[in-house]
Amino acid sequence: MTSSNDIRATFLDYFGRNGHQVVESSPLVPRNDPTLMFANSGMVQFKNVFTGQEKRAYSRATTAQKCVRAGGKHNDLDNVGYTARHHTFFEMLGNFSFGDYFKEKAIEHAWALLTRDFALPKDRLLVTVYSEDEEAPVYWKKIAGLPDSRIIRIPTSDNFWRMGDTGPCGPCSEIFFDHGDKIPGGPPGSPDEDGDRFIEIWNLVFMQFEEGPPGVRAPLPRPSIDTGMGLERFAAILQGKHDNYDTDTLRALILASAEATGQDPDGRWKVSHRVVADHLRAGTFLIADGVLPSNEGRGYVLRRILRRAMRHAHMMGSREPLLHRLVPTLVRQMGAAYPEIQRAEALVVETLKLEEMKFRTLLERGLGLLSEESGRLGDGGTLSGEIAFKLYDTYGFPLDLTQDALRSEGKTVDVEGFDAAMAEQRRRARAAWAGSGEAATDAVWFDLREKVGASEFLGYSTETAEGQILAIVHDGKPVDGAPVGAEVAVVLNQTPFYAESGGQVGDAGLISAGEACRIVVRDTQKKLGDLFVHLGTVAHGEATVGLAVQAEVDHVRRGEIRAHHSATHLLHEALRRRLGTHVAQKGSLNAPDRLRFDVSQPTPMTDEDLAWTEAEVNARIRENAEVVTRLMTPDAAVEIGAMALFGEKYGDEVRVVSMGHDPAATEKLGVYSLELCGGTHVRRTGDIGLFKIVSEGAVSAGVRRVEAVTGQAALKLVEAAEAKLKEAAAALRVPAADLPARIAALVEERRKLERDVAELRKQLATGGGAAAAEAVGGFQVALRNLGDTPARDLKGIAEAILKGGGADIVVLVSTAEGKASIVAGLGEAAKGKADAVALVRAAAAAVGGKGGGGRPDMAQAGGPEGDKADEALAAARALLAG
Ligand code: ALA
Repeated sequence: MTSSNDIRATFLDYFGRNGHQVVESSPLVPRNDPTLMFANSGMVQFKNVFTGQEKRAYSRATTAQKCVRAGGKHNDLDNVGYTARHHTFFEMLGNFSFGDYFKEKAIEHAWALLTRDFALPKDRLLVTVYSEDEEAPVYWKKIAGLPDSRIIRIPTSDNFWRMGDTGPCGPCSEIFFDHGDKIPGGPPGSPDEDGDRFIEIWNLVFMQFEEGPPGVRAPLPRPSIDTGMGLERFAAILQGKHDNYDTDTLRALILASAEATGQDPDGRWKVSHRVVADHLRAGTFLIADGVLPSNEGRGYVLRRILRRAMRHAHMMGSREPLLHRLVPTLVRQMGAAYPEIQRAEALVVETLKLEEMKFRTLLERGLGLLSEESGRLGDGGTLSGEIAFKLYDTYGFPLDLTQDALRSEGKTVDVEGFDAAMAEQRRRARAAWAGSGEAATDAVWFDLREKVGASEFLGYSTETAEGQILAIVHDGKPVDGAPVGAEVAVVLNQTPFYAESGGQVGDAGLISAGEACRIVVRDTQKKLGDLFVHLGTVAHGEATVGLAVQAEVDHVRRGEIRAHHSATHLLHEALRRRLGTHVAQKGSLNAPDRLRFDVSQPTPMTDEDLAWTEAEVNARIRENAEVVTRLMTPDAAVEIGAMALFGEKYGDEVRVVSMGHDPAATEKLGVYSLELCGGTHVRRTGDIGLFKIVSEGAVSAGVRRVEAVTGQAALKLVEAAEAKLKEAAAALRVPAADLPARIAALVEERRKLERDVAELRKQLATGGGAAAAEAVGGFQVALRNLGDTPARDLKGIAEAILKGGGADIVVLVSTAEGKASIVAGLGEAAKGKADAVALVRAAAAAVGGKGGGGRPDMAQAGGPEGDKADEALAAARALLAG
């Protein structure tokens, strides 16, 4: 038997040998197309190469492309399980020519590969062509020798292929395999073509046009080739099966499902096993490509697929989560060809298990309600839209799950009624919101949110993506377009820009559409929880609603924000270890140039605390451990010891970020830091680079704030400190290492000099001796203006004069710093006869001072007018003279 893995390898090898570049499958989430939900065919990753927008080093390529057709233009979800050839996930083998070869060569390659390498009997093959295509039939005749009867002209869109509503397209020619007359069905184009006898195996698209807005179709720069062969259906033919689900890979999954549920793979639960096998593949590949179950956009498609599978698992009697147990089988089957599912295996298992555990109780209760309601309906009845909506709203039943559940009983759902119930709920939400007193300016966002839905955030896995402008707000109003210079708020359907939340600032960057438009984004904010609003200026061209744009986050800035955010987690844990587990986050800011972290902590942190914390964080950075993000329910996260913010409202799923190792921390998975966090983080702690605490201080009672920097900002801080050190060392003419000793010596020297100066001043002041004293009122009085002598020295000088016997009374004035300071002292001869306090008061009055005090024999006073020192002395003299 030719295995699916062999078929894939043979196909790629054939085209590789024939000058085609073997290119890897692109991720399921298209990076280059804003309008497409999932990669739905091989050509998606080459879309811009066909249109000439993008150049590659090769003009021929071949791929095995992962595809999902669920949600969006090509949607097969409803049929999966019930038919032989519908899948949500499948692989498409293809060869591509970008303006290189065209129809003739494409037909030549296809025919050679099918009939030679894969040895399909020629008489079992037939083809269709687009009725207006005159060339293809000629080549089919010439190359394959097919008679006219086996070249069928089809006039419908079946033979005109389109990627989506827009994008490259062209007429196509499909190759069919005839399973023989044992199987009912007619050839394509015939009334019973839907039978299973003739199976399409390969579609050759002759890409010639690009479909623009409705009705506008432009020729491609050069005609090109895009082909697609569904691996599963081709494997069925080569493996002698009629049903894709009987081929090796899918059969292995069905057997695993049978084993895990204990139910016969081909018996009563055949459909359910198929649903499980198919949806397991879609789920695993989507999760591995970064899609996680949610209530919006791609995440909701994934959730719908998974919940549909879970209902089938439940029906088969599986009471424990089932899907995650089948992942290893899938990884064994397909992990060699798609290593991404090997790498993501743990994440896939965890995510599937979590999703299934969460849904289990709702599922049981919802199914109870459904069977009750369905029991009331007659055969072939229709379930009311309201009940379907209740199942959706209360029990998390996607509409298609309810439809699928009723299908086996031949019953349907009133979809219009469901839509009406949904609209009614929106109306009520709006009325409740309008009554909640929120700012009127936000009404515009409420309307937009309703109109365009939640934005899909791609920024955990990419910083560049395409998106489509869904709304523009200018001057507070929604507009269809905004010219150069306009300040705008722009909403895209999907964006890699992080909107400010959880302390992490919003991203800045560029939104552009070639020459048509460039918007410089300076900030991104979230409105109403999930509407991402890019705030910026139209720098070039015109911003218009509907425009497909490239959204590119300022990578350097985001890198710095990430480093600060991750460092905050390490800081948080380090502080808890140093100060105690009472330390809890009270607020935080993670910006490109700094972080600010407020924690509950009653007393100031000491220098030792800060030094220890800084060293600890830096040690964790050097550990360079991987930063791992998991998705969990908030309860499960808290159970494994993740730190959550008290009072914070979390959704039904949270991201849990772990960093570093600590084998002793068994209560939290042996990691150093474990936190609930929706922010963006570095890949490894080493990416933070360096961590420096800048300050620590009080914010309010019981809350301390630490400010710190990392990476580039930390380096700048260290450089600035070093520059100052160098400057100081140069000024003192010593090597930087000697600075502390040199400064200590200078301080000591200065102290000594001050002492010397005081001593000298004293000597100078007393040096005048008796000669300087004058006789006033019967006393020898020394009245001195000591100019700049510091006020604090006056008393000592006065005492020295009195002690030297140079005077009976001393009055001294200092005018240091422009103020007058006055001291009066009495010697033995004057004590009890004169009053020092009265003397300084009289003197002070002359210099604009009031009061004065001290003892009767030694008092001091002062006044602001230092320039009147001599008048102060005169006033003292006058008082003594009586
Ligand atoms: N893009 C073409 C298809 O998907 C080949 O059928």
